[in-house]
Amino acid sequence: MNDRPGTRLLDALTVRFRADFGEAPFRRFFAPGRINLVGAHLDYNGGDVLPMAVDRGIYLAIRPRTDDRIRLRSIDQKLAVDIEAGQVGTRTRPAFGWGGYPLGVWQGFREATGHSTGFEAVFAGDLPMASGLSSSAAIEVVTALALDAIHGTRLDRQQLALLAHRAENGFVGVRCGIMDQFASALARAGQVLLLHCAGPRWEHVPFDPSACEVLVLDTKKPRLLAKSGFNERVAQCATAHEVLRTHVRDLPHLALYSIADVEQSRSAMGDVSYRRARHVVTEMERTRTAAAALRAHDYVRLGACLNASHASASGDYEVSCDELDVITAAARTCDGVFGARLTGAGFGGCAIALLRPGHAEVVQKHVGAAFLSRFGVAPGFDLLRNGTGPVEIG
Ligand code: GLA
Repeated sequence: MNDRPGTRLLDALTVRFRADFGEAPFRRFFAPGRINLVGAHLDYNGGDVLPMAVDRGIYLAIRPRTDDRIRLRSIDQKLAVDIEAGQVGTRTRPAFGWGGYPLGVWQGFREATGHSTGFEAVFAGDLPMASGLSSSAAIEVVTALALDAIHGTRLDRQQLALLAHRAENGFVGVRCGIMDQFASALARAGQVLLLHCAGPRWEHVPFDPSACEVLVLDTKKPRLLAKSGFNERVAQCATAHEVLRTHVRDLPHLALYSIADVEQSRSAMGDVSYRRARHVVTEMERTRTAAAALRAHDYVRLGACLNASHASASGDYEVSCDELDVITAAARTCDGVFGARLTGAGFGGCAIALLRPGHAEVVQKHVGAAFLSRFGVAPGFDLLRNGTGPVEIG
């Protein structure tokens, strides 16, 4: 365990758990965050996405209780939640804050398994919060994994992912697709997940860390519009899908149409829906090409897919911003960079650059200077490794 990046965090988690909840035995779990290589905004359109777990995520220390109290603490967040199980309800409330994620999972777990006793838990994370690396999905997945383990319910990874997703969609009320929770729950070391969201079905595709590294470029721009902009995109895609169903043919998901279908119904759609649909169907092609490139260890081709994905997400889907456009453009001019794009929902937060190992320092210098001179803000950088799936830490 000593070479694990989160070792110090794990120690802090243990100290805090004992301080708040005493010395009796407890268990510890981890679930990773993710970056998405290609497949921007395809999950809720029934498309294919290519996420990879990173070596950062959320850690959880937990002990079951025999009564029905739930007590939640976090190392990073001040807010603590103490609540009777009967008071949790079916929707989060402002007073729950970040605790809405674990409470939503607990509620879904109770409904699915009948286990309704409480627990006490401390969370800690080493992902930048709200940056597009899926800290909320990691909180949900680590909670699902831990509840399953302490009650011995033996749910499989897909069931854990679905519990986590239901918490986010139903309890917290964000209309996200399934990518983030599946990426965290189904991740495997040395692999990228090729997730066909229409099934869902998935495959694992090898990722070669000696050929390619991932540099996270943090614009530090808050993702203020992420929730409203995200829900607006979901609605615009539903409109485009409806037009295609009536004008072309009835397919269950927008991502399953072809570019010819979209062109055919262009005049019936209006410009905004047309461009949203064009992004979705062309991004499907890019995800397929990217998966083939990964399988062939062709990181140059993979990088080209990232660049094209960013251009489409920025131009047609309009989920980028000046900061993300500038930071990715600056990265692309550097030696050793295969490609760069925004990650997560967009609207601020982080971008990723794929690079040849050994180039990160020079890239950071160049990109840092270019971004600072344009926006007066120093961006953050993090060199991430491919991570493992969710695990209990012994
Ligand atoms: C957010 C959502 C995901 C996905 C991405 C965009 O991260 O949580 O479900 O839609 O945006 O690809």
